[in-house]
Amino acid sequence: MIQANLKVYRYNPQKEQEPHYDTYQVEDLPDFATLLDALIKVREEMDGTLAMRCSCRSAVCGSCAFRVNGHAKLGCKIKLSTLAPNGEEIRVDPMGNMKVIKDLVTDMDMFWDKLRQVKPWIELEGEPPEREYQVPHSKMVELQQPMNCIMCGACVSDCTVLEEDSKFLAPAALAKAYRVIDDPRHSKAKEWLADLSGEGGIWDCTRCLECVQVCPKDVAPMDQIIKLRELAINAGLTDNIGAKHVLNFTKSVAHTGVLDERTLPIKAAGLGWAFKNMGIAIKATLKGKIKPPLPGTHPSVTEVKDIRRIHAELEEGKAKS
Ligand code: SF4
Ligand code: SF4
Ligand code: FES
Repeated sequence: MIQANLKVYRYNPQKEQEPHYDTYQVEDLPDFATLLDALIKVREEMDGTLAMRCSCRSAVCGSCAFRVNGHAKLGCKIKLSTLAPNGEEIRVDPMGNMKVIKDLVTDMDMFWDKLRQVKPWIELEGEPPEREYQVPHSKMVELQQPMNCIMCGACVSDCTVLEEDSKFLAPAALAKAYRVIDDPRHSKAKEWLADLSGEGGIWDCTRCLECVQVCPKDVAPMDQIIKLRELAINAGLTDNIGAKHVLNFTKSVAHTGVLDERTLPIKAAGLGWAFKNMGIAIKATLKGKIKPPLPGTHPSVTEVKDIRRIHAELEEGKAKS
């Protein structure tokens, strides 16, 4: 038998000014018990006022995502024996980036709104074929990863950009957008990629990896966002800061073997941006953090030939694939 020492977030916004934590010592759980089992035991036997969502108990329905010791997890997928083998305290909070309805139950409206914004459906062109649409098996294998999403919201809970910018479409919706846009049956790829290239879209992800780490179904949303970026660049949608940043970054490394951090922001964001931020650049130069972009001061490395060769090989590989 195993025990769980829980510290659980409690908040009823209709009755309380501030949230607080309650602690529960849950005894006599079987060795295979999950965190969700312990929480259910609290609700059923110790404190019936605890509000939380759950349904399948098998990591399928996506209802039981909570923040566990600071990171989003599915309560039913995490065993107490691995989480707290020696009865360590486990802190359980509601998902982040969402309004709390009560205790561990959050308002998922924002999650669904973002999903609707990316138009998560395939738009076909022309009349349907007489028998069936045929999609290459290899393409479906590729799309399987984003298709595994169970809409639990864990990635959205812990997305660091969403924390700062509520307009960001966030990882789950963008992963779904990739699933749709790269489907060979979809006829509006370029149009939808153009929509995603604006504010709050694919270029606003800072690649912090948090969504990849917390996703319980290995959807790796950040990887799907990077694929959308590649598709957007290949479709010629390069008139935005994000795409210009990537293209000029690559150009700098391919040309000199090293990134020229002094000129990259100017090339990506333009002269207008540079003039607006001149004060910061001067301060950074005076403090020795950056060197002024004067002729002859461009950084370079001695192995530049090797780097150019690797870059050429990568480009050749991309062209063949
Ligand atoms: S990698 Fe991007 S989408 Fe994922 S959590 Fe970080 S900022 Fe959000
Ligand atoms: S991508 Fe992963 S973490 Fe995000 S909603 Fe889907 S299953 Fe949950
Ligand atoms: S209860 Fe369904 S995913 Fe946890």
